[in-house]
Amino acid sequence: MTTSGARLTSEQIGLLARAVSRAPSVHNSQPWQLLVRGGEVDLIERRDVGLRRHDPAGRDRTLSCGAALTNLELAVRALGRDCRTELATGADVAATVTIGRPRPIAARELALYRAITRRRTYRHPFGPGRVPAGARTALVAAGETAGVRLVVPRHLDKLAQLLGFATRVLREDRGYQRELALWTAHSHGGAVTGDGVPEDALSSEALPAAGLVRRGTPVPDDAVLAARLAAEALLIVCTDGDARAEHLAAGAALQRAWLTATAKALAGSVLTQPLHLTGFRARLVSELALPGVPQAIFRFGHPAVPAAPSPRLPLGELFASATGVFGPLRS
Ligand SMILES: Cc1cc2nc3c(=O)[nH]c(=O)nc-3n(C[C@H](O)[C@H](O)[C@H](O)COP(=O)(O)O)c2cc1C
Repeated sequence: MTTSGARLTSEQIGLLARAVSRAPSVHNSQPWQLLVRGGEVDLIERRDVGLRRHDPAGRDRTLSCGAALTNLELAVRALGRDCRTELATGADVAATVTIGRPRPIAARELALYRAITRRRTYRHPFGPGRVPAGARTALVAAGETAGVRLVVPRHLDKLAQLLGFATRVLREDRGYQRELALWTAHSHGGAVTGDGVPEDALSSEALPAAGLVRRGTPVPDDAVLAARLAAEALLIVCTDGDARAEHLAAGAALQRAWLTATAKALAGSVLTQPLHLTGFRARLVSELALPGVPQAIFRFGHPAVPAAPSPRLPLGELFASATGVFGPLRS
């Protein structure tokens, strides 16, 4: 593969940027930028995006960059180019994507690329009807890669107990709730900022397991929660290790599975919130007998109501300069 002759036009760069900007991210913080260098594109992780209470170690920020990477790779393929990706190539560089030779996009990749603008977080209860086993298998296959597995959880009674416990803790955590309010678009004075989670995207009837726990989130008792979890399709993204490259790979895998669901007219949402509580991740591993480190829980099913797209920052803010000039962010 060569980079010579693979310089991108501004229209092509625009297509890549639009795809990256539509990726899901923790609190819709969009913690990424692009640096285009001839035939190479760096996906920069914006370490200045800090969610001290929700994401103290920046793990979700890295997972979000992994999701953006999947969109970037699909967009390169939509340009009819091959691409090669190197993960974690620098402290701030989440990945470097090298644009390769012309190669037509495969039908499967095109379906995922087209799903990028239709995918959105769906926190409402799902409509009736089980997800067909074949669809679940397709999501698992789309997500799995070296070191990353998508696991159907067993022991839903234990999962319900753990999620119920986490919900009660997070509801009462005033610092956590202050930060979440700051990142909830409506609480931010109603101003349109292009980031943050819109108030109306946080369904009030959702399971605590389906959204972001706020002060008023009800906690059903464990048996009710377990029954509701059993009615949904769940996958836990697990990695063999717990280093930055694995967080990126987990985010990329999550997004491939999510786009596969979208392409099949399914909807879903991702849950990482409880995983940041001290001890929660270890308990999840031991009580659910997970084969690796849990990075995210993905629930999916048939959508019952339409979900609106969430806002995005202006595309111009997506571009980094070689000197690393960042646009303003909420802090
Ligand atoms: C790494 C990661 C962690 C997330 N964690 C949660 C979560 O715990 N709860 C939740 O309701 N949404 C969570 N989300 C979803 C984001 O809030 C959502 O992607 C963002 O608001 C943008 O909306 P969209 O997905 O509709 O484009 C997470 C997304 C990512 C990528």
